[in-house]
Formats: sequence, C-alpha cells, structure tokens
Amino acid sequence: MKKAIALDAADPLAPLRDQFFIPDGMIYFDGNSLGAMPKAALAAVSEATQQEWATDLITSWNKAGWFALPTDYGDKLAPVIGASAGEVAICDSTSINLYKALFAGLSLRPERHVIIAEKSSFPTDLYMVEGALASRPGLEMKLVDDLLASIDETVAVVLVNHVDYRSGQVAEVEAITARAHDMGAVVIWDLCHSAGIMPVGLNDGGADLAIGCTYKYLNGGPGSPAFIYCAERHLPKVSQPLSGWWGHAQPFAFDTKFAPDVGIRKFLCGTQPILSFRALEAGLDIISGLDMAQVRAKSQSLTSLFIELVEAEVPALTLASPRKAAHRGSQVSFSHPEAYPIVQALIERGVVGDFRMPNVLRFGFSPLYLSHIDVVQAVEILRDIMENDVWKTPHFQARGAVT
Ligand SMILES: Cc1ncc(COP(=O)(O)O)c(C=O)c1O
Repeated sequence: MKKAIALDAADPLAPLRDQFFIPDGMIYFDGNSLGAMPKAALAAVSEATQQEWATDLITSWNKAGWFALPTDYGDKLAPVIGASAGEVAICDSTSINLYKALFAGLSLRPERHVIIAEKSSFPTDLYMVEGALASRPGLEMKLVDDLLASIDETVAVVLVNHVDYRSGQVAEVEAITARAHDMGAVVIWDLCHSAGIMPVGLNDGGADLAIGCTYKYLNGGPGSPAFIYCAERHLPKVSQPLSGWWGHAQPFAFDTKFAPDVGIRKFLCGTQPILSFRALEAGLDIISGLDMAQVRAKSQSLTSLFIELVEAEVPALTLASPRKAAHRGSQVSFSHPEAYPIVQALIERGVVGDFRMPNVLRFGFSPLYLSHIDVVQAVEILRDIMENDVWKTPHFQARGAVT
C-alpha cells in the first residue's frame, strides 16, 4: 500500500479523476469497453438538448456548427492518434467505418483481390470483411496467425488490430505496415484498444487508413460515433462505397449525380447523431490536452502493479496478457476455468471488469481516472473472493445478454 500511495502522490494525471463521474465504492476496470462519463458531458448534452435542439431547432445546423462536427471533432482527435488536421472524421460506427476503409483500401489497389487479417481480430472486423466479400464477387479473405509472415504481393489490404481485445497484446503495426508497403499492399489499423491510452503514430508509421471507436478510452459515451482516418496522400484518389449526401462535394446542390468531397468528408455517409456527438466532445477535450507519453507511462505503471499483486496474492489465476509492459495495451487479462462467476462476484463487490470467452477475466485500466490505490484495493477484494470461494455462490453463474 505504501508503494501505491507514493506512486499516486507522484502521478501528474491524478487530478483528472475529478473530471469524471466515478460512483462511490466502485473501482472501474471497464474503460476498455465503456469509458467513464466526463462531468463536462452532462453540461454539453444539456446545452445540446435545451438550447440547440429545443430552442434553436434547425438553425443549430449552422449556429451551433452541427454540420461541421465530424471534421471539427476529427481535427481534435487527430493529434492523439498521430494524424494531421483534415485526415480524421468522426462518424458512424467502427464496423461501418471498417467497411468503408476496406473498400477504400481496395480502391487504391484495384488489380488485387486479397484481404488479409489475423484470426484473433475482433470478430466484427472479420464479419465486415465477410460482408465486403459478399458484396463484391472475386474478393478473397485470408485469415492468418502471423500477419507479418503472411503478407505477399497478392495482398491488396492488410487489416491489423493495434491492441488485441482479448489479451491486450500490442501488434507490430509499424513493421506490418512497412512489410505491406514493400509488397504493394495498403494497411488498415484498428485503433479501438489503443486510441487514448498510448501514443499512436499514424503518420510516422506510414499508415494508409485507420478506424476506431470513441466509447472506450476516449470516454465518448455509449454508442458514441467512431472515427476514420485516411492519410492525406491517398485522399485525392481513394473512394468508398457508402456514397451518401454528406460525402458529396456540394451536398446542398442536391445534384442527381454523386461527386465526392475532395477531403476527409468523402468518408461521411448521411446525417449524424448530433446528441451523441455533443456528449463526445467532453472526452475529446480531456484527451487532446494530454501528453500521451505520460498517459502511457501511468497505464504501464497501473497494469504492472496489478500483475505483480495478483500473481503474489491470487496464484489460482494465470496471466493471459504479455508480461512485458511495452508489449501490452492498457488491459490485463487473466485466465481461470471459472472466470465468469469470479467476474460476477467482483462486480457485486464494486470491482467492475468483464469476462471474455472462453475463460478470460479482463481488466481495463484508464490512466485518466484510476489510481494505484484502486489497484491495491481491487486485488485485496479479488483475493478475498478466491480464498473464501465467494464466486461459488450459485447466482454468480447466471448470464446476462451482455458479458
Ligand atoms: C477491435 C475492435 N474493433 C471493433 C469494435 C466494435 O465495433 P462497433 O463500435 O461497430 O461495435 C470493437 C469493440 O469492442 C473492437 O474491440
């Protein structure tokens, strides 16, 4: 405990916790699934409903700048993921943006037909590739264990999850991108589990396209709109198939023929969920003011302490994440045959993590609102639950629709 107190006292990010709602008695390890609510989001949503919607109504498209929110917020997010202004749009969901990015990648390599991804990718990524295959005959999907070793000159598009959702393993995105470029392929980075917890170098790493969600470490709120990145060098020639009017160069010309915007707006489709956008701004304002190296350092300090304590106090759990801090994102997974009821018992005691099939207890560490003392207290509760077989209580076996 002494060590945790000292680490927290020296933590430059500690004051950020006050900017979030964290219920009393809860230690929240699910920021990798749904980030905590920034207090400023409450005021933003209230303004967006009471003033912009209820009072100003349709004039808000101009007056409150609603129409420009996808690119305005994209520009706010850009430095957090190593992109430049004009390369990122906030819009739609991650899955939908992935569909656009897949075809955008294919549009840059029209003579090639292979999309390659890891078997361990988050399933929606693979499902969206399947959907792309169904909508364009002749495409082929290759699912592999080792991306780096499998990219050859037949590949059009490489899809890589920057941080694995189950284990937290960080992928060698720069090496994969370099290899893909050597072979003439383009790469899509899925940043769902890295945006907001570590420095991401889209431009420095030569990325072509990227997508990610904002409801995890960016604290945008449930179902908040996702993001899509396209490197500036590709913008003039890239195309995407969901050619809705928001992606038109002149949407209010109401032309019968589609003519894409020349910039990142070409990745938009139709009208966006403005209330969700307005809730998201608070999270973007917090993260865009931070030094991501500092965020990463705290994240590694929290996850390292957690591993050290769990391995010392709860030997029944087996580490299922990389031991080396540099190789893991901001989550730690442990495996245990009874992972599900153990997670439920923890939640009942206020330690909120989640379960992933088949036997994984997953703990996400947001450096913005967690402390080292939280880590110590959580491990103490976990030790008690395991030592006293609390998880064997029958009601912890009941499964909800969302695990
Ligand atoms: C790597 C990855 N990609 C995509 C998604 C989800 O996509 P969507 O926001 O469309 O549900 C997730 C959700 O957890 C994810 O972890």
